[in-house]
Amino acid sequence: MKGVILAGGLGTRLYPLTHATNKHLLPIYDRPMVFYPIQTLVQADIREVLIVTGGPHVGHFLGVLKNGKELGLQHLEYAYQEKPNGGIADALALAEDFADGDPLTVILGDNTTDADISEAVRRFEGGAVVFLKQVRDPQRFGVPVFDPTDPKRIIAIEEKPTEPKSNYAVTGLYVYDSSLFQYIRACDPNYAGRGELEITEVNNAYLRDGKLRWEELHGFWSDSGTFQSLHESSRYWAEKARAQTVRERERVPVEATKQ
Ligand code: DAU
Repeated sequence: MKGVILAGGLGTRLYPLTHATNKHLLPIYDRPMVFYPIQTLVQADIREVLIVTGGPHVGHFLGVLKNGKELGLQHLEYAYQEKPNGGIADALALAEDFADGDPLTVILGDNTTDADISEAVRRFEGGAVVFLKQVRDPQRFGVPVFDPTDPKRIIAIEEKPTEPKSNYAVTGLYVYDSSLFQYIRACDPNYAGRGELEITEVNNAYLRDGKLRWEELHGFWSDSGTFQSLHESSRYWAEKARAQTVRERERVPVEATKQ
């Protein structure tokens, strides 16, 4: 299993911050945003990673991530997306040579989670897996529609529906087998009317062929593409780090008394 992090796009919703650098290098509490998806992959023992990026600040990634060794990666590769807003599936198409027939765990670079996906990755046997999370504002995301007669079965995924049919988001974490690239080649740029190759079209194609499974993400998950979500993610990770420091401080005297 190899990993891909998609860190292209122009981050226009975060102007003027993204005039200075790529969205995925902006801070979430004490580290650049892209460190979090890398951490999620390393935790699942995925150490060969491709980062797809584009736009005016691509060079900044090398200075921050270098060869990825300090973050636990064995191999870090970069790909350049010519059309910075070509869409998630357009960015993913650039991973075909890197994948070289292997399955891929894909994470959108502005998604942070403390869920452990190791088990789902280990169990992966083919097709595609999407990770779902209950949210307050499903209309901002891809949203699964469940079969009314079998509430565990997804019958469609709708991209940013005005009237969501469930309160789940399809998060930006996916596992795909190598048929991914043939599905991407069949994508229609007008699928969701924004001129992008949509990952939701790819997921619906897997679904149509009976090859899409889903898992629920257990733990915190958020995207960080708006000021509100960027702020909420930072607050969550800051609070988590503070709670951890408190726990560690409380543990010291106990361990000291053992000696
Ligand atoms: O965060 C989860 C959501 O991400 C899903 O629920 C949606 O189904 C999916 O379409 C996506 O929605 P967004 O509209 O929030 O995606 P956005 O355009 O913000 O792109 C998310 C990340 O994907 C971004 O941080 C970088 C990468 N990306 C995006 C585009 C459009 C690229 O690498 N290249 C691109 O051309």
